[in-house]
Amino acid sequence: MYNYSANTQYIGKQFLYLTTCHSTNDLAKSLNSRGLCRSGMVIFAENQTKGRGQQGTSWVSEPGQNLTFSLVLRLSHLPLASQFLFNKALSIHLLGFFRTYFSNPSDTFQVKWPNDVYLNGKKIAGLLLENSLSGNYISSSIVGIGLNVNQQTFEFPTASSLSIALQRPIDRYALLNDLLQYLDENLPLNFEFLHTTEIQTIHNVYDATLWGLHKQRWYKAAGNPFLATLKGVDEQGLLILETNEGTERFEIKSIQFLNHPVD
Ligand code: BTN
Repeated sequence: MYNYSANTQYIGKQFLYLTTCHSTNDLAKSLNSRGLCRSGMVIFAENQTKGRGQQGTSWVSEPGQNLTFSLVLRLSHLPLASQFLFNKALSIHLLGFFRTYFSNPSDTFQVKWPNDVYLNGKKIAGLLLENSLSGNYISSSIVGIGLNVNQQTFEFPTASSLSIALQRPIDRYALLNDLLQYLDENLPLNFEFLHTTEIQTIHNVYDATLWGLHKQRWYKAAGNPFLATLKGVDEQGLLILETNEGTERFEIKSIQFLNHPVD
């Protein structure tokens, strides 16, 4: 049984440990909308019966092998128009954590747009961010994290776990405590005090961690496959590609990565 032992200021001060639930994001949203949680609350489940992924997909995770949890975070002064900034900040701090925690230079952690975590070219974690608005500002975000830790087999060849990639079993609970502590110390929640240079750094670091940056590969949009080179992700979170037609920007719903890398 998990014992919360991270030394944090706000993340995990309220911690709900469940052996099973439908989806920690759904539960977090429901508690948050009824004012039943403080910022930083963590809802953790050993098993989700209806885990959700991005774009209406489901998130399937072997019970008791991985980490599936949601954080409820109140944000302040984050305009709706900059909501992807929080996504970028979260992605780079997750990566910062993994790179420090598993500090083997031959292991490559990257972010695949918009916010999948890749280790040595395979997906080991996914994020599902669900924001609530207050006027033109984001008031809170439910950050759902699905992290493949010790699971050994996957349905999709592009998915993997920390344990497979690092070839050893991982202590899930120690990892969770250290991850929460790292986010508690590093993740900005109050965007009012972020200087423009710090904001620019978030954009730059996010771009530098991007899987496939400057690489040419196949994409598909409006039913048509095409070759393009990934140039970065803009402030609104649109993917910037250099195509035969010039520079084009794409929303997540409008583009697909095809599995035909071009070297
Ligand atoms: C994705 O890559 O598609 C995002 C996956 C997010 C999964 C996590 S697991 C904890 C939280 N609860 C959910 O139902 N989904 C997120």
